[in-house]
Amino acid sequence: MPSDSKLVLGMMSGTSADGIDAALVRISGAPPRLRVKLLGDVKQIFPAAMRKEIFRVAEQKAITPGEFSQLHARLGQIYAEAALSACKKLHIPPSKVDLIGNHGQTVFHQGAPTQFLGAQTASTLQIGDGSVIAALTGITTVSDFRPADIALGGQGAPLVPYVDYLLYRHKNLGRVALNIGGIANITVIPANAKPCDVFAFDTGPGNMLIDALVAHFTRGRQHYDKDARLALKGRAIDPLLHRLLKDPYLWQPPPKSTGREYFGAAFVQKLLTLGKRYRANPNDLIRLATSFTIASIRMALDLFVIPKIKMDELIISGGGAKNPIIVSVLSDYLTHNGIKVLPSFRFGVPVDAKEALAFAILAYETFHQRPSSLPSATGARGPAILGKISYAPPR
Ligand SMILES: Nc1ncnc2c1ncn2[C@@H]1O[C@H](COP(=O)(O)OP(=O)(O)O)[C@@H](O)[C@H]1O
Ligand SMILES: [Mg+2]
Repeated sequence: MPSDSKLVLGMMSGTSADGIDAALVRISGAPPRLRVKLLGDVKQIFPAAMRKEIFRVAEQKAITPGEFSQLHARLGQIYAEAALSACKKLHIPPSKVDLIGNHGQTVFHQGAPTQFLGAQTASTLQIGDGSVIAALTGITTVSDFRPADIALGGQGAPLVPYVDYLLYRHKNLGRVALNIGGIANITVIPANAKPCDVFAFDTGPGNMLIDALVAHFTRGRQHYDKDARLALKGRAIDPLLHRLLKDPYLWQPPPKSTGREYFGAAFVQKLLTLGKRYRANPNDLIRLATSFTIASIRMALDLFVIPKIKMDELIISGGGAKNPIIVSVLSDYLTHNGIKVLPSFRFGVPVDAKEALAFAILAYETFHQRPSSLPSATGARGPAILGKISYAPPR
């Protein structure tokens, strides 16, 4: 390994709030020739009470400033525990880890400015205090990646495209990276692309609606539709699906980003109400949510990608890459159109570890004071050095 190599632990906990994915990565060099080697990845589930509280806050339910401050610190502790436990499981002493890159838990995301107290304002907030993580792990921690891009007029999302560009660009093949987390997003990397040719956006819901319906119908006993078992038992309700596909978010041209504010509880309530009108049973609705995710991804490709670039491959990651309906329906449709569908592990990136690995790379770039946002993906005026650095206490 070159002498400039760093051992970085990336941690991601997305809008699904299912838990923390951690990836330990050896990184050296500088873009565009970054050497990246994944040494291992682990997942840690959030304690049930924490998950509930995250959902509550992300749904913009009332919380006092004092409780919010406590939640920020408590989450920092949980991330620190997850980091230490990842080191233990991967047999690496924490003192050997140079850097943590922690995405944090999004509790609010307003990428497009709205009028607020007299001025157009956009903001995003990922909590889980980096100072707490650095203090408890003894590892310098980069957190709060998104606000720097928003401050430059960007959407603050998506940020992973920079990493997709580094990992997946190809001289002759047009590639699209699709990550299906709570929300689904794509990065479009035309053949022989320069960074400014890359564009990316959230396509709409990923697993978020499916998870919410499963939790609703099982009264919280299950949190997701493992292997699409429930959706497979449901029947298709095409008129209702077509109605959902009129949703303005899907038709809005990129750049755009979305989250639980839009596809959260209120949207689920709408599905439940519409479901009653169509006499849908629980599994029918879970199937509907699954089809809605697939159709919104298809629409994004059909409307905003395929007319613009020659697309040869779709590389899938995220928890949704383990949903057999999503993968098989998308594969059938795209293969039919001459596009290959590949899981990210074919590129050495396990589907669960993709985003954690991405935040390890973003932290490495920030540590070297290099920008790692793509203005073509976020809509910002220019590239930003992302995040805030919390230094480890002196050893
Ligand atoms: N075996 C599986 N079958 C179906 N869905 C799955 C499976 N494994 C994971 N998922 C889905 O993936 C979600 C987690 O995906 P993840 O990529 O961690 O999202 P996020 O980044 O939003 O946390 C789960 O909530 C679940 O909906
Ligand atoms: Mg997750």
